[in-house]
Amino acid sequence: MNLTSEQVTFRQRMRDFVLRELEPIAAEIDQKGEFPWNVIRKLAAMGIMGVNYPPEYGGLGLDTVSYAIAVEEISRACGSTGITVAAHNSLAIAPILLFGTEDQKKKYVPPLARGTSLGAFGLTEPEAGSDAGATKTTAVLDGDSYVIEGSKCFITNASVAETFVITARTGSEPRTKGISSFILEKGMPGLSVGKKENKLGLRGADTAELFFQDLRVPKENLLGREGEGFKQFMITLDGGRISIGAMALGIAQGALDKSIERAKERVQFGRPIGQFQAIQWKLADMATQVEAARQLIYLAARLKDGGQKFTKESAMAKLYASEVGFLVTHQAMQIFGGRGYMENFPLERYYRDVRLCEIGEGTSEIQRLVIARELVR
Ligand code: CAA
Repeated sequence: MNLTSEQVTFRQRMRDFVLRELEPIAAEIDQKGEFPWNVIRKLAAMGIMGVNYPPEYGGLGLDTVSYAIAVEEISRACGSTGITVAAHNSLAIAPILLFGTEDQKKKYVPPLARGTSLGAFGLTEPEAGSDAGATKTTAVLDGDSYVIEGSKCFITNASVAETFVITARTGSEPRTKGISSFILEKGMPGLSVGKKENKLGLRGADTAELFFQDLRVPKENLLGREGEGFKQFMITLDGGRISIGAMALGIAQGALDKSIERAKERVQFGRPIGQFQAIQWKLADMATQVEAARQLIYLAARLKDGGQKFTKESAMAKLYASEVGFLVTHQAMQIFGGRGYMENFPLERYYRDVRLCEIGEGTSEIQRLVIARELVR
């Protein structure tokens, strides 16, 4: 599948930006565990925080393939920045645009799409991970507002976001049918954020708990109708999974780039190690896997852009790309040997960062379940 000339130009623009502004500081972002505010502001100025949303809501108006390219190119240098953009864009903005009223869209989307504020998505709870239908947080209607009680965990952007889209149980309908979704704002009394999690990888990205204690939310902040929240979040995750695939792809491409450089430069037994078949075959497999992952991601993105169903393809893209990410970073470290294991080379960061892609936005086991259900439905 070929990219259009606009998509090729866009990729080059992203690549230039990333090489100039992000790659030189990616190791520092990881080592200090600092949220990459500077880069996020620059990406916002380029329109990347709302790259695939309509200009009338503050977006850049590009397609989902371009969005995937943006996340891929960012993650090629820095996974922490990649997941920050992905969670903000496809998990926080998308449900408001897809399911919000015109008033909600006008109020919340433009600052998010322009990147003047960040968004977060709250689904996961301590007892509701893969089983998202086991949500325990409750929202009880009291006069003109809902009173929300409960908590969310592992929330990307939790302490940097100003807008949150979360699920809570309303009414007595069981499991997935009793779940609704709400838009929350930073500063609402009763909304608090836990401490930043100390993670294996993606250490510059912000991940924390959210707590809701006697949190009163105006009933205008209900997204759609009561009981629709679970499906809204599943549809949102279909889109989000394309970007987690793109993130894994970017990290894998970054590891492959470094491996090729290393294979040409590193001399052992009197010649560059890239002249040995043991290394050549690794590189050939890595490059093939990376390209196959890319095509699956673009396929899912194109189906989405064409208004077709893409649940199965986005799960395939996310599943395959994240497993390729793991394989490729593993082999890249093998090519680098001891050097790859050291902190001052990016390999160990890629290796740690990509691991999340097999877990976040649905584990590989859940992706297989989603694909299989679509096959036998
Ligand atoms: N599109 C539209 N509707 C969907 C849907 C989809 N993709 N998936 C499910 N639904 C509908 C079903 O058709 C069903 O509708 P009816 O009640 O009308 O029949 C309803 O939703 C309930 O669906 P299921 O019966 O399939 O629900 P389930 O309890 O069996 O769960 C699941 C399905 C796929 C396992 C789901 O719970 C799931 O995706 N779990 C993983 C959760 C997840 O990905 N969490 C990630 C959190 S976000 C994150 O990680 C962010 C980060 O920053 C890293």
